[in-house]
Amino acid sequence: MTIRLYIPKDAAAVAVGADEVATAVLAEAGRRGLDVELVRTGSRGLLWLEPMVEVATSAGRVAYGPVSVSDVASLLDAATNDGGAHTLRQGVAEELPWLKRQTRLTFVRCGVVDPESVDDYRAHGGIKGLERALSLGSDAIIDEVLKSGLRGRGGAGFPTGIKWKTVAQAAGPQKYIVCNADEGDSGTFADRMIMEGDPFVLIEGMTIAGIAVGATKGYIYVRSEYPHAIAAMKTAIDAAKKTGLLGARVAGSNHAFDLEVRTGAGAYVCGEETSLLESLEGKRGLVRAKPPLPAHKGLFGKPTVINNVLSFAAIPFILSEGAKAYADFGMGRSRGTMPIQLAGNIKHGGLFEVAFGITLGELIDDVGGGTASGRPVRAVQVGGPLGAYFPRALFDTPFDYEAFTARDGLIGHGGIVVFDDSVDMSKQARFAMEFCAIESCGKCTPCRIGSTRGVETVDKIRAGIETAKNMTVLEDLCNTMKFGSLCALGGFTPYPVMSALKHFPEDFGATPTRLQAAE
Ligand SMILES: Cc1cc2nc3c(=O)[nH]c(=O)nc-3n(C[C@H](O)[C@H](O)[C@H](O)COP(=O)(O)O)c2cc1C
Ligand code: SF4
Repeated sequence: MTIRLYIPKDAAAVAVGADEVATAVLAEAGRRGLDVELVRTGSRGLLWLEPMVEVATSAGRVAYGPVSVSDVASLLDAATNDGGAHTLRQGVAEELPWLKRQTRLTFVRCGVVDPESVDDYRAHGGIKGLERALSLGSDAIIDEVLKSGLRGRGGAGFPTGIKWKTVAQAAGPQKYIVCNADEGDSGTFADRMIMEGDPFVLIEGMTIAGIAVGATKGYIYVRSEYPHAIAAMKTAIDAAKKTGLLGARVAGSNHAFDLEVRTGAGAYVCGEETSLLESLEGKRGLVRAKPPLPAHKGLFGKPTVINNVLSFAAIPFILSEGAKAYADFGMGRSRGTMPIQLAGNIKHGGLFEVAFGITLGELIDDVGGGTASGRPVRAVQVGGPLGAYFPRALFDTPFDYEAFTARDGLIGHGGIVVFDDSVDMSKQARFAMEFCAIESCGKCTPCRIGSTRGVETVDKIRAGIETAKNMTVLEDLCNTMKFGSLCALGGFTPYPVMSALKHFPEDFGATPTRLQAAE
């Protein structure tokens, strides 16, 4: 009898010992003469249970976790007993409440399939979107994307269909598709999970974009800190070429499309689209002034679609199931689902894909189970290092682009970083300015100089030097950066700073003081 086991090779699982567990499983199976088939998958996203090992049983895939090497012998006993009892047994994976509460449209195969196998991808519903796209043609594909309501998942929330239409209508024989996989936001890892767990969905989404706008070449720009994702994408691209998914005749059609992976050199600002294009062209990652938009004059001066990994990865579902199936989820102008990433001081961190509309409080308290430290949640930062800090009083905010904007926040790439009551928010404000000073590309003065003056001003406030006067200076500085910066790095750094000041004034010595009480 063959026993089939699934162990993630996702970087988060590998970081906590998944490779060692996989090696130990094979060694123990060899000692016992067991016929074990080991499939290395991506992660299902229940990160507190990693390494999570799944065993194929008559009832479905049964999950055990977190598994360490010392558990392997007893785990194999349970595995040979059709997924039997074990202290680490969590139950049938698909039935785990954390997974059952989700609406997985983009992540439906992540953690399920073998990320190196085109056949497995196809067996789990892959390629259907591409086949439909080929039968529809350019205009109808773009119409579907427009009707789906999909907005860019990289941060700005710009409608993807409008971007594609602009590139489709741009003149010129050479156009490009560029995937932004720089994923620099704190607390985010969804792009990485897709690339490591279901890379063909990204390849399929980018290929559909190529067909829609008339581009034959695409690049995936991945941050250098993601070696596992880079390797997984390269392996998947090779497999796609071998099986005719990519190449001169995409899936047997008359469309050509090819993909290459390019690695960044490690700068947050290279996630900004124009800076990314500079970097992709082999130059220093300096932000370009807009216009011209990348859709008109992008990579090597040619019309270019640049989208985030999650934007492209949503496309195959939209094409295979139809725009309405996607747009039926969500609220207001935020249609479909958002892969939310719960990180920081949280009990149950991981990937939670859900329709727009869920509140921040539900996500932190119910889904995430509060802090890992067991102390009260004091603040959460949503949307990366440029996102606002929200206090518990704003936990009724629904996950929706407009609702967050109305509260001076942003959803960004869907990352949430949780802090307990030991956090000092004046330190966090200082960190925001310091981060901007370090990562600034230097092209414009409000960001280049303002961020350094910002660090100095927060330091004065923290030291109790002319607090009221320096608060005014800080606010003034934030306004200059917000309205005078060329890109959102300088333009949005004021959000974490001002939200910390507004919601947690006691940490700045502005009102009866937490700082003094702590001293
Ligand atoms: C400083 C800065 C960093 C950014 N980093 C990323 C990033 O890591 N990944 C990403 O997809 N978008 C990032 N963006 C947003 C991109 O400029 C751009 O809006 C996005 O790639 C467009 O794709 P989308 O429409 O699919 O979201 C960043 C923007 C700024 C200003
Ligand atoms: S805001 Fe900062 S990162 Fe953006 S262009 Fe200006 S200096 Fe460069």
